[in-house]
Amino acid sequence: VVPAAGRGERLGAPGPKAFADLAGRPLVAYGLAAAAASGAVEAAVVVADLGPAEAALARLGADLRRLVRAVVPGGATRRESVRAGLAAVRQAVGAAADPVVLVHDAARPLAPPALFARVAEAVGAGAAAVLCARPSPDTVKQIAGDLVTATLPRDVLALAQTPQGARLSLLERAHREWPSGDAGDDALLVEALGETVRVVAGTPFNFKITSAEDLALAEAWVRSGGTPWMGPPA
Ligand code: C5P
Repeated sequence: VVPAAGRGERLGAPGPKAFADLAGRPLVAYGLAAAAASGAVEAAVVVADLGPAEAALARLGADLRRLVRAVVPGGATRRESVRAGLAAVRQAVGAAADPVVLVHDAARPLAPPALFARVAEAVGAGAAAVLCARPSPDTVKQIAGDLVTATLPRDVLALAQTPQGARLSLLERAHREWPSGDAGDDALLVEALGETVRVVAGTPFNFKITSAEDLALAEAWVRSGGTPWMGPPA
């Protein structure tokens, strides 16, 4: 499930962030291609405004277009968008099936294929849900306004990324039982059920594109060969 329905206002691009141009391709194409190359993903649901999504997907190669089984409109929050994506997965697989589902933000184009494989493999191996994360390279301060109130020990902190994965039924229950309001990620909803969430190693490159500066950094990384699963830049 690829949530791609955010407006991305902080990026300042004309359309939705997920379809902004990154080295000649829409942002959303990178995660889809990495998922396909991982060998762990059979099909994808993209959650996005249908017009821009169809236009972007039409520019993808035949293999990626085949991977995308459905495009469904998103909601006002990321959580609602993921929920819409899960409903589309349920519709596609039927009531009895319980596949492993990975949720990956379109806004993280640099997640390599191995990360999808790592998260998918770890689901079921001792944990209900799995996320990838990296240690914080910076010292983390707790603040109140512009005053420091504490310095948090780095060895108990991890910066959460996507892909995050769990069985479809668990993600459905986690989304159904979440009281209300948005949630930063899907793992939080599973944590709220009291289920075990495991962390596997993410990568520093798997940062979320938020600003024009992030996009410029990602562009430099792509053009220097950092996304070999995409083939040469357009
Ligand atoms: O806003 P942010 O960058 O944190 O969003 C993370 C991901 O969630 C992005 O890929 C964005 O497109 C998606 N999203 C969504 N629906 C929303 C808000 C965000 O699919 N209403």
